[in-house]
Amino acid sequence: MQKLAVILFCLVTTHIRSQSIQVVESGRRVSMRGLSVVSDDVIWASGTGGNIARSTNGGASFTWMKVPGYEKMDFRDIEAFDSNTAIIMGITAPAVVLKTKDGGKTWKKVFEDTAKAAFIDAMDFFDNQNGMILGDPVKANSLYHLVTSDGGDTWSMIDHSIGNASFFGMNEGEAFFASSGTNLQMISKTEAVIASGGKSSRLYYKNQATTLPIMQGKESTGANSVAVNGKYAVVVGGDFSKDTISSNNCVLISLGTTPRFSAPVSNPHGYRSCVIYLNNTTLLTCGTSGVDISKDGGKNWELITKDGFHVCRKAKKGTAVFLAGNGKIARFTL
Ligand SMILES: *[C@@H]1O[C@H](CO)[C@@H](O)[C@H](O)[C@H]1NC(C)=O
Ligand SMILES: *[C@@H]1O[C@H](CO)[C@@H](O)[C@H](O)[C@H]1NC(C)=O
Repeated sequence: MQKLAVILFCLVTTHIRSQSIQVVESGRRVSMRGLSVVSDDVIWASGTGGNIARSTNGGASFTWMKVPGYEKMDFRDIEAFDSNTAIIMGITAPAVVLKTKDGGKTWKKVFEDTAKAAFIDAMDFFDNQNGMILGDPVKANSLYHLVTSDGGDTWSMIDHSIGNASFFGMNEGEAFFASSGTNLQMISKTEAVIASGGKSSRLYYKNQATTLPIMQGKESTGANSVAVNGKYAVVVGGDFSKDTISSNNCVLISLGTTPRFSAPVSNPHGYRSCVIYLNNTTLLTCGTSGVDISKDGGKNWELITKDGFHVCRKAKKGTAVFLAGNGKIARFTL
């Protein structure tokens, strides 16, 4: 048995290496959907079972920690600012946000919603101070929206409910996926580009919600991730319950007063939960059925591997690119 395992392991790593994705950490029964690459050296990941992983040597080794008191929490998103400071988002029961300033030795609760229906999905920061969290609608199909302007030390809820001046209604069965923490990208201290999914999948931009030309209509369908690069954006998604369908899973966007949508010439090869720009023309997207690269701004996608990952991130300062998934963290090199 042991020999067979070793042989299989070698085959798998060789295959992955030749495809420029190198698994640098594996073997834990943790589903990782949160990933934050601060620099080429500092990488944080978060996942199920209250688990957080941190590397300060470019992924050569990871230190694992379980957040005390949250041993069953699914931390679906993480935002790190350096090797000491990070914010983690636990999705539900309770929906909770915690912050560490000492590399994960201690965590302070900075937000909590104990309502049974509270479910938070994704977090993004524009800079070290200004951030946003999205959750599934709790009140009258209105956007569940938290903001911070002090680096996540305090969070306030924006009231988008009916009757309020900033009413932002969501459609029946429209919500946000908590698959990679990337269905919002902040573009200023107060604004974000947001992609919803479910029975209805829309792009929220400049206080307008526009239906995305992407798969939708079921709880498992819709947009999962948005990446913005100047005036352009890309959205990916699909149907996570049928993750090899490779149509209606990607939208190319030109952001103007009204966003203009177009479809790729050749789509990513299946449902995808995360998309990132590596530079103006090169993009990476990943999901449970594989990883694709585009070298022409998202028009054409080539399959790199059928090995699944939930999330990919590029270093905020640096060039390193990492992916995380079920029990594994990998480095991507071109
Ligand atoms: C990327 O594109 C933007 C315009 O969208 C341009 O201003 C910038 O110079 C480009 N950067 C590179 C490295 O080509
Ligand atoms: C983007 O990165 C790829 C791969 O490193 C490179 O070939 C390409 O020239 C880059 N494009 C721009 C516009 O910087």
